[in-house]
This record gives sequence, C-alpha cells and structure tokens, in this order.
Amino acid sequence: MNDPETVQRNAVRDYYETGSGAEVTLHANEEAWQSLRFRPRILRDVSRVGTAIDLLGASLPHPLLVAPSALHGLGHPDGERATARGAAAAGALMVLSMRSSVPAAEVGREMNGSPWWYQVYATGRPSVALTLTQQAVDAGASAIVLTGDTPIVGRKRRATPGIVANAMHVENLRRTVDPSITAADVTQDPSATLDLIRALADRYRVPVLVKGVLRGDDARLALEAGAAGVIVSNHGGRQLDRAIASADALPEVVAAVDGAAPVIVDGGIRSGVDAMAALALGADAVMLGRPILRALMAGGSDAIRALLDQMRTELVEAMQLVGTADVDQLTPDLVVRSK
Ligand SMILES: Cc1cc2nc3c(=O)[nH]c(=O)nc-3n(C[C@H](O)[C@H](O)[C@H](O)COP(=O)(O)O)c2cc1C
Repeated sequence: MNDPETVQRNAVRDYYETGSGAEVTLHANEEAWQSLRFRPRILRDVSRVGTAIDLLGASLPHPLLVAPSALHGLGHPDGERATARGAAAAGALMVLSMRSSVPAAEVGREMNGSPWWYQVYATGRPSVALTLTQQAVDAGASAIVLTGDTPIVGRKRRATPGIVANAMHVENLRRTVDPSITAADVTQDPSATLDLIRALADRYRVPVLVKGVLRGDDARLALEAGAAGVIVSNHGGRQLDRAIASADALPEVVAAVDGAAPVIVDGGIRSGVDAMAALALGADAVMLGRPILRALMAGGSDAIRALLDQMRTELVEAMQLVGTADVDQLTPDLVVRSK
C-alpha cells in the first residue's frame, strides 16, 4: 500500500480534508447544522417547488454554489477545468480560487456562459493578485470574492510537508503572469485592511463580496467599505481553530445585514437538508467546499454534476416535507436548535 501513487493520493486527501489546530471548528461546522431541528408546516401545496434565485445579477436555477478551493490539479488531471464543467452542467455558480492550478481563461471557457466569480487574497506582491484578477474579469468573472480571514495561513493538522506543495499554483502563475514568480510573491499580506474592498470595486467595476465574515459588526463594516455581499465562513475550519461554527454565526450576520446585500454561507454543508436550514436562517445561497473536492477526486466533472444534482433533489424533497414551495419562503421560524 506504500506505492508512490497511493502515498501521493493519501497526501492530497489529507490536504483537502484537514482542518487547522485540533480541528474543533472543522467538526463543529457539521455538528452545528445537524443540531438544528425543523418545525414543518403540513397540508401546504408543495406539488411544485421553486429553487431559483437571483444573486447579484446572476439568475441561478438553485442556491448551491461551488466554494473557492485551491489546487484542483492535485485531485484530477483536468483540475479546475473539470470542476467548471461539472458546475456548469449542474447550473451551479463556481467561485474560482486564486490558488488555481489552471488559468482563469480556461475555466471561463469551460463555464460556457454560466456565471462564475473569482476569489482573491491580498498577496505580498500586490501586482500578482491584480494581474490575476484582471485576467479573470477579462475571462468573464462577474464578481470578485475577497477572502478576508487569511492574514496568515492557518497551520494545518494533517498537511504532509513537501508532498502537497504550492508548485502547481506557482507554475500556473509563471505561465500566465510572469515567468520569474516565486512562492514568496503569493504569500499572504497580513497588513491588508477593509480599504481593499473599495480599491477592488473601483478598479474592476464588478461587485466585491467579502468572505470569512463571522460577526455582525464586521458584516456592517464590510458593506460600509463597499462590499456588495458577505460570505459567512470560517474557511472550513482551516484558519482559526475554535472559530465559531458558521451555522452559529449566520443569524447574527443576517440580522446585521438586514436585507441590504446577499448573505452566503459555507462550512459543513453536506446535504440538501443542511442547505435548507441555512436558507431558513436567512442565507441567500450556500457554498460547498470539500464535497466538491471529494467528487472531483472520485470521478471528475461527472461526479461533481451528480453531487450537485443530488443535493438539489434533497433540497426540493426537504422543502416539500417542511411545507414550503419556494426558497424565498424559507423562514427562521421553521428552525429550532435542539437541546
Ligand atoms: C482544500 C481546500 C482549499 C481551500 N482553498 C481556499 C482558497 O483558495 N480560497 C478561499 O477563499 N477558500 C478556500 N477554502 C475554503 C473554502 O472556500 C470553504 O470556505 C470551505 O471549504 C467550506 O467548508 P466545507 O469544506 O466544510 O464545505 C479551501 C478549502 C479547502 C478544503
């Protein structure tokens, strides 16, 4: 079982699955959704269920989105191209990570007219992030997601040093930005502030969402600083271990935003039932991280499409059983936290 291919595959799986620290938040994310219980309504007409949403100008058939995650090339030879094909086939908006293993232009082609967004970090050499973002916007990215919870990269519990390097990302940057780029050029910039939101919005003229929001006051500050939406996230338990579970942070953020902008949530969402709970608590859409990466490794674009189709079916069935015919009628009174 120790052949090099197996060792590499296990290392990639560890890299995808790991959380930071003692992985308390990693597990808390899933547990927090599961601790919610529903208060179904009965004898409502649920013969037809609507899941379509509008999100910052994008008309989507359902509210299940692909979260930005790094290095899909480790999990599948086609990398993010495979993810894009699967997402587009299932009508899911994909957020492409700046730490992609393939150029944004290729992902844009695979999305084939379906909406997709581009996620950026503040990097040590700002010109790298700016060039990449320009390329993504030119390739059709219709919004920017600024990830704000990564002033430094959280120390991962199960990352095998040396086996899963950033090499693919850097290689992609050398091809698409500048042949002299090194890993140091794309380290995080811990001095970045909320001012970056307005700078990005002014420069690229597309909506900027801020990802990693876990507090109501931060959501307000992000909106005041020019954000067009917020994403409630603790980075899938990969940044501050023991950060609050995203299901627990969501109601406070929804209350603070008070309908002024879309609120998206990710972290531990594993089923259509989890997604329904998030929507009932006020999220406009949900994003999936590891489920997409697992499907990518298992079967590329077809498996990603099958996963998204299944979760959409689960969402429809859950809505029928909870007695709600449209996603915009999912309300907090449908949910209660179990003791
Ligand atoms: C392997 C991996 C890589 C990730 N890379 C990024 C990234 O490049 N940018 C980012 O904003 N978030 C990144 N994330 C966080 C995801 O966008 C998302 O917040 C998280 O995976 C959601 O939790 P879930 O995996 O439980 O669904 C990454 C997550 C994983 C698992």
